[in-house]
Amino acid sequence: MVKNLNRAFKPKRVAIIGASPDPAKIGHQVIKNIIEGGYKGEIIPINPKADNILGVKVHKSLNDVPEGVDLAVIAIPAPLVQAAMEECARRKVGAVAIITSGFAEVGKAAEELKLKKIADENGIALLGPNIFGLAYSPERLNASFGPKDIYPGKIAFITQSGALGIGLMGWTAMKKIGLSALVSIGNKADIDETDLIEYFNKDNNVNVQLLYMEGIKNGTKFMQTRIEKPTVVLKVGRSTRGAQAAASHTGSLSGSDKIYDGAFKQIGMLRASTFIEAFSWARALSQPLPKGEDTVIITNGGGIGVATTDECEVQGIKILDDPQWLEAKFRPTMPDFGSTKNPIDVTGGAGVDGYRRALKIAFAEERIKSVIVLYCETAVTDPMDIAAAVNAAFQEAGRNKPVVVAMVGGERTRDALVYLNEKFIPASSLVDVSISALKIIYTWAEIKNRPQTKPVLEQAPAEVHKIIAAVKGQGREILMEHEARQVMELCGVPTPQWGFAQSSAEAIKIADYKNMYPLAMKIASPDIVHKSDVGGVVLNIRDGKELKDRYEAMMTRLQKECPKAKLLGVNLIQMVNGIECIVGITTDAQFGSAVMFGLGGVFVEALKDVTFRVVPFDEAEAGRMIGEIKAKKILDGFRGMKADKASIIKTLTAVQKLAPLVKEIDINPLLTNENGSYAVDARIVLK
Ligand code: ACO
Repeated sequence: MVKNLNRAFKPKRVAIIGASPDPAKIGHQVIKNIIEGGYKGEIIPINPKADNILGVKVHKSLNDVPEGVDLAVIAIPAPLVQAAMEECARRKVGAVAIITSGFAEVGKAAEELKLKKIADENGIALLGPNIFGLAYSPERLNASFGPKDIYPGKIAFITQSGALGIGLMGWTAMKKIGLSALVSIGNKADIDETDLIEYFNKDNNVNVQLLYMEGIKNGTKFMQTRIEKPTVVLKVGRSTRGAQAAASHTGSLSGSDKIYDGAFKQIGMLRASTFIEAFSWARALSQPLPKGEDTVIITNGGGIGVATTDECEVQGIKILDDPQWLEAKFRPTMPDFGSTKNPIDVTGGAGVDGYRRALKIAFAEERIKSVIVLYCETAVTDPMDIAAAVNAAFQEAGRNKPVVVAMVGGERTRDALVYLNEKFIPASSLVDVSISALKIIYTWAEIKNRPQTKPVLEQAPAEVHKIIAAVKGQGREILMEHEARQVMELCGVPTPQWGFAQSSAEAIKIADYKNMYPLAMKIASPDIVHKSDVGGVVLNIRDGKELKDRYEAMMTRLQKECPKAKLLGVNLIQMVNGIECIVGITTDAQFGSAVMFGLGGVFVEALKDVTFRVVPFDEAEAGRMIGEIKAKKILDGFRGMKADKASIIKTLTAVQKLAPLVKEIDINPLLTNENGSYAVDARIVLK
């Protein structure tokens, strides 16, 4: 049965089960907020003892109320909630918000499941339990026990933490950050972030979504979320202790933060690091999207211009660089000692007219794709005049390109910043905050312009299933080296030339035929794990004679030193040079199989410079993985060595075919050079 969230956010009739005349009770605060918030629909307090609460007639039970209440808010003790929920089902209530705590978050998951069952069987959209309620400003509905006032706007704020949500409700009102919806999802027994995002995708009252998250319950469902509007996510629990705290807070399981990071990128969510950043981004994302890269900086100060130029480079924002063109366009806007070199420095003595002239050109010129306005407070101008000029130029140009502002100064400047933010022009006294706002607009534009594809997981060939069945049949869960190489090759993971030989003559035949010299030879034995320790590895064999000698010497030695080991033969692997990368598959509690990519060697151990994506993903996503590791410059060319990105992408997509069959894969190293990439060694652990 499809759950109808319209009945939660746009209800015509709202019942409060547990409404109380006692101002100290949560049930009182909820009805008070609904009344004082200006909700125009029917308000139905339910309380077995009271007759009238805040001037509204009270019903003893929902049974006394005509059928079809849209939203019921429940604020009675936990042991009474199930009966109230059953009553809601009988009376055909559309949506229920359970404020009551004391369910899965304190280990009472079974009780919570019963509520979910009633909701599912009766098509009720269930929010909570363990929430502070919900608010929807277009309907003037504040069914929460948070602050009374919400500053109306177009941001939907979905929060897993109740107290933080309440706190931020007041903070957003103070900061004039406009919200259309505020929803507490608490334990997410039924309705979760995915359901809400899907709902707000279709809601014209919502432009931007902001999600505070501690963890998710269903990774597969989460990965299906369609992000149609800019969605900022603040996921806490990055640190190990933070993750533990999150797990015990709302009862969410917390998987690896790095996998969350990859998952957010994969579905197109924008991950912020702090509350300030999250709200600053949410506000910025109501700006128009840029139609290209080139930005222009207009300033009255050199220093702030340089700082901004630095920050643009750090954040990857391209500054328009065409001195002649800029000189021709902007020279008339400034005195002779001004600079047109971008930053366009209209000089410290510039009045509001100087800014107006420069702004007019910046917004009018097609070649300029976004505008950064800087201002240091001087005695010759009123910051509010500059702010008004920015807004006027932006509006007159028909809001045709993004603009952000950074202003440094005292109290007058503070007022100007508030004014700009109220006009939805991202403005801050900190250059990095303003540039980060512009960067997120660019990031969202890139996400929005991506072709919409639904990656499908390709099956591994039948031969791979046969090899794996044989390994399992022998009671093993780890593949031997030649088996690992074989299944990878069959799936399309590029490997160096390799072969498996059971005699020196066979080894020479294979090496000659495949033109493999120089090559490495490794013993193949299920009983020898640490091959190098017992002399089971020889590197750099250059020709057939050396191969014969080394083969025979290795076998003689191992027969003597490891008499109990079953010696099956040797693996021959062509020696390749290249940049060391690492590719892996891991199984995550929330998301299932995830593929990892990073640089190998010291980078993986010391810097943990790796990135993840949840299986399945396509080649474009694999390309983005390569582009986001910190050491990506090494892949672009370093000490005469350069990566072949196409074959890394091929590896990252091909290895996914093994995901349903394995618990873990560790391709280490994957060597890459300009001719290709080669999975030199791999450890594969089966499910
Ligand atoms: N139908 C209607 N009303 C009922 C029913 C019923 N079946 N049963 C009881 N009531 C009435 C009570 O008589 C009482 O009204 P009264 O004041 O006139 O006597 C009212 O409902 C409330 O019941 P109480 O027993 O007084 O419960 P109380 O208000 O103390 O607590 C509450 C209920 C708030 C739901 C509590 O159990 C609880 O869970 N508190 C935590 C809430 C919370 O923090 N949620 C997470 C929010 S997010 C965050 O972290 C901030």
